[in-house]
Amino acid sequence: ALVDKGNHRHFMQKEIFEQPTVVAQTLGRLLDPNTGSVRLPDLPFDLGSVKRITIVACGTSFYAGMVAKYWIEKFARVGVDVDIASEFRYRDPVYETGGLALFISQSGETADTLAALRHAKAGGQHIAAVVNVPQSTMAREADVVLPTYAGPEIGVASTKAFTCQLAVLASFAVALGRAKGHVSEAEEAKMVADLERIPSQMAKILHHQEDLVDIARKLAKARDILFVGRGIHYPIAMEGALKLKEISYIHAEGYAAGELKHGPIALIDENVPVIGLAPSDGLFDKSLSNLQEIMARKGRLILVSDHLTAFTENEMHGSFAMPSASDLTSPFLYALPVQLLAYHTAVEKGTDVDQPRNLAKAVTVE
Ligand code: G6P
Repeated sequence: ALVDKGNHRHFMQKEIFEQPTVVAQTLGRLLDPNTGSVRLPDLPFDLGSVKRITIVACGTSFYAGMVAKYWIEKFARVGVDVDIASEFRYRDPVYETGGLALFISQSGETADTLAALRHAKAGGQHIAAVVNVPQSTMAREADVVLPTYAGPEIGVASTKAFTCQLAVLASFAVALGRAKGHVSEAEEAKMVADLERIPSQMAKILHHQEDLVDIARKLAKARDILFVGRGIHYPIAMEGALKLKEISYIHAEGYAAGELKHGPIALIDENVPVIGLAPSDGLFDKSLSNLQEIMARKGRLILVSDHLTAFTENEMHGSFAMPSASDLTSPFLYALPVQLLAYHTAVEKGTDVDQPRNLAKAVTVE
């Protein structure tokens, strides 16, 4: 084979551990450490005049798009719509003249995303594609390609492609913020420096994977699992649930922590592990009160946070310590424990991690 597993038991594990390298590779193409600035590929339109952005993707790539929405709206003050390709293309979407449509796809071949790209092109939008396969159909048909440099991804469940997509999208959001005048030169330099620290922070987190094995053993016995997060960690919660159901076949939901009370809290009892992604950011207190509501219903909290002392060991079912991070860097870091939890839970259950049943790496038919 062209690509082998090295010392790893599965491609998925290998690809999880490659992330510091491939994220650094992808960032390296976009960031100039000497000037502290982001350098995007040449664009066939003026970035500063983009008024609205439509992001379309499927699966894990869709969650990268949701993270990008938070970044772009926060840093560049440009409104972003994010949609699933299979919905978008049949919905009669409204295109703003000169709007930018951004398609995210590891393979560059997903049928629904490709059809959505063609729809947006016919609708007069500028077309950008974040793809991992440079010779793919989407790369050929886009006006501009913002490539990820994840290398070949073999595991059906996407991992390294996702964090490389985040690397491109974060850089894009900073560049757009700069072009729009909402990010100063000094702020850009600070953000570039923060992005450059991500690969070494990722490596440190991966070093502690053993801490997740015990938790995964508990998860393997569950029938239903909830992942909850707020703000930019809400899409990471959904990605965690997707990963887990894809490869362990355990039913999982990703939910916005504040929305639990409108439904899923009815499911909570002593048999339901709840993975709380709760960094000590501006939403921390809100997340804590949501997690307390879960514990009051005997839910089994597994806290992933840089502030684990918010609860006692006895109160929690498990915990994983994270470094402190900003809104810009946090999604890259919190993606890792959720990938590893899914991986180790699947290994514990003995499923076919790299080739889960009923799933394909690229869905090229509708
Ligand atoms: C399939 C894969 C997922 C992937 C999705 C979108 O469902 O199993 O891992 O996220 O397609 O693929 P794309 O290549 O467009 O990113």
